Amino acid sequence: MLGKVVSMVESQVMVEARSLRKDYGSTLAVDDVSFQVSRGEVVGFLGPNGAGKSTTMKMLTGYLSPTAGSAYVGGLDVAADPIAAKTKIGYLPESAPLYDDMMVAEFLRYVADIRRVDGATRRERLETICGRCGLNDVLGKNVGQLSKGYRQRVGLAQAMVHDPDLLILDEPTSGLDPNQIVEIRALIRELGSEKTVILSTHILPEVQASCDRIIIISGGKLVADASPEMLSGGDGASVVRVSVKGDAPAESIFAGVAGVRDVTVLGGEPGGQAFRLRSVSGEDPREAIFRAAVDNGLVLLDLHREQVSLEETFRQLTTTEDGAHA
Ligand SMILES: Nc1ncnc2c1ncn2[C@@H]1O[C@H](COP(=O)(O)OP(=O)(O)O)[C@@H](O)[C@H]1O
Ligand SMILES: [Mg+2]
Repeated sequence: MLGKVVSMVESQVMVEARSLRKDYGSTLAVDDVSFQVSRGEVVGFLGPNGAGKSTTMKMLTGYLSPTAGSAYVGGLDVAADPIAAKTKIGYLPESAPLYDDMMVAEFLRYVADIRRVDGATRRERLETICGRCGLNDVLGKNVGQLSKGYRQRVGLAQAMVHDPDLLILDEPTSGLDPNQIVEIRALIRELGSEKTVILSTHILPEVQASCDRIIIISGGKLVADASPEMLSGGDGASVVRVSVKGDAPAESIFAGVAGVRDVTVLGGEPGGQAFRLRSVSGEDPREAIFRAAVDNGLVLLDLHREQVSLEETFRQLTTTEDGAHA
């Protein structure tokens, strides 16, 4: 479908998921997921537990074959050319496979060997990585002795040993305490200045803190792909809360106002009715709502614009009964 466009911007597209699907027996874990990530972007993969984030990441990295669809990294089909693709990818799985009995330095040298980091560049590469990841104080410690925060740094370091263009980080801050979270976020932001990064999380502030773009996945499906600003109402749609006195047919009156896209009935207005009105993009429908109320003899008790939070968008998009979102 996007063939023409893709070939035109080939050099900028770092990752492409094309109709990825994964069935585990009768569980459809990932359902027709497609997206592109450009070189240099930091993309947050957001969704509740069980949404299909880890499964998608495993297909992007070539650790799991899709039931259908394909993943491309740097123009290579990951399933067809896994070894070449893996040289471009640094992957931090959900539970990083670290060897607890090895010292940090020894472990990273071991990973460098597996990754075939050339003898001449190996030492320099490892020094750079340990500096970047703040590991110089723990090089002689056993991996098993490290705090969770340091273990995660080692996990990031092992993902970067071969200097990949792309980092795929599965819940990189899960299980960390607040100070460690701040540190790892700062590290990811720094890495994001020179690499393409896809990180998954089920925690909203995570993506707001570190990402240029957010892909929301729910029940195996991609339900949103936008900037954090867009998802927090920056597409120009506004939400207006209105309450009126009495029991006049206010819902249908408001639904007919120009610029109003949908009306939700809210509770909690004694002796009256409360509504949330969502506008079409780019409209501020407050004046039209006011006039409609006056023309129809409604007594307005309240009329104000609400801030749409990313949290609200996330809740709406990932609530299963809600199929009304495009
Ligand atoms: N190895 C597996 N075998 C069977 N079902 C699995 C397996 N891994 C994941 N699943 C199921 O697939 C769905 C998506 O899981 P996952 O990709 O781990 O989600 P997330 O990372 O978003 O929490 C869930 O319903 C999960 O139970
Ligand atoms: Mg997961």
